[in-house]
Amino acid sequence: MNVDGKHFQTIWLKPGDERVVQVIDQRFLPHQFVIEDLTTVAQMATAIREMHVRGAGLIGAAAGFGMYLAAVEAAAAIAFDESLAAGAARLQATRPTAVTLAWAIERQLQRISQGQTTEEKIAIALATAREIAAEDAEHCRRIGQHGRALIQQVAQKKRGGRVNVLTHCNAGWLAFVDYGSATAPIYAAHDSGLPIHVWVDETRPRNQGSKLTAWELGQHGVPHTVIADNTGGHLMQRGDVDLVIVGTDRTTYTGDVANKIGTYLKALAAKDNNVPFYVALPSSSFDWKMRDGLAEIPIEERGAEEVKHADGWVNGEQVEVRVTPEGSPAANYGFDVTPRRLVSGLITERGVCAANEQSILALFPEHAAVLMKNRETRPA
Ligand code: MRU
Repeated sequence: MNVDGKHFQTIWLKPGDERVVQVIDQRFLPHQFVIEDLTTVAQMATAIREMHVRGAGLIGAAAGFGMYLAAVEAAAAIAFDESLAAGAARLQATRPTAVTLAWAIERQLQRISQGQTTEEKIAIALATAREIAAEDAEHCRRIGQHGRALIQQVAQKKRGGRVNVLTHCNAGWLAFVDYGSATAPIYAAHDSGLPIHVWVDETRPRNQGSKLTAWELGQHGVPHTVIADNTGGHLMQRGDVDLVIVGTDRTTYTGDVANKIGTYLKALAAKDNNVPFYVALPSSSFDWKMRDGLAEIPIEERGAEEVKHADGWVNGEQVEVRVTPEGSPAANYGFDVTPRRLVSGLITERGVCAANEQSILALFPEHAAVLMKNRETRPA
C-alpha cells in the first residue's frame, strides 16, 4: 500500500544486498516512518518479540525471512542442521498466539531439508521466504475482493448510504505483507467508489488501532473515526455500525477465533444488536490441528508495563508516561477467543464461509483429507 504516495510492503530484501531483510519498524508509527535492517536470526527474533513487526501475516513472513537468515548462519556453523534447528527454536519462542509463526517455520524446515548442498539449502530458504510473502499479499488481495462484495450488499440495502464498518486492533496491511485482512475489503470498497466509513477501536494497551489502523486508513484516504475501546456497543445500539470486520491470529478448523483482546466483547455486542460480525483471514491463520479454541489456543501474556504506561508524541519526541498508581499491579492478556457461534462468517482467499468445521473444510478440502487420516491413525 502507499505511504506518502509511494508503494511499500512491510518486509523486503534490501535492494542490491540480499543478505539484509528490511522492515517497517512499527514501534514508531504514526509519528515516524522508520526502516530497520535485519541481518541475523537474533535480530529477527527481537523484532518479532518486541513487536517492531507484528500481526499474523507479517509474523509469518518475518519467520520465513528469519529462517532464510538462519540458513545463511547455519552455512557458517560446524553442523548445518543443528544450527538451523536452533534458529527455528529461537524464532518459535518469540510469540505464542499467531499460528503463522509455526506454519512458516515448518514450511521452511520441510523445504530446506530437500536441498542437497548448503548453497542449495540457502537458495531454497530464500525462494520459500519470498514465496510466503508473495502468497500472503495475494491472499489478502483476494480477501479484499470477496469482502468487497459483502460491503456492496450492505450499501445496496442502504440505497447507497454510507456503510459503517467497525474494526478492532490492526488487521491492516501493516499486519500482513500488503492489503491486510480486515482492511482489504475496506480498501477494495473505497477504491471502487462505495461510500464507506470505519470506526477504529483504539485497542489498548498498545493502541494498534489508534496508531496503526488510523494511520493506514488516513494514508489511503478512507474516512474513519478513532473511538475508545468501550464505545462499540453504544454505537451498535444506535444503529451506527453496519458490519464488524476483524482479523485473527489463529482460528481453529472448527471456527473459533483468537484475536486481539477485546474482540470477544465486540462480538457479544454485535450479536445482541444483530450486527454481522465477520472475521477476515488468509488460510495461513487457520490451525488445522486445534478443535476447541477456548481450551487449546495459547493466549499471550505480555509485560504489565504495557498496561501501566501509555506513549505519545510530545514536542517532536515519543514520550512514555505512567497512567496507573505506581503500586497497582496490572495484567496484560494479549488475546481472547470468540466462539464460532458469535461469528457470522469467515472471509478467506477462497471465498466467504460459515464459521464451522463443515463449511471451512468444504472451502479447504485438502485439509479434510489430512484430518480424516489423522483421526484414523490416532490410537483409540
Ligand atoms: O499483538 P499483535 O499486534 O501482533 O496482534 C495481532 C493483531 O494485530 C490483531 O490481533 C489482529 O487483529 C489480527 S492479526 C492480523
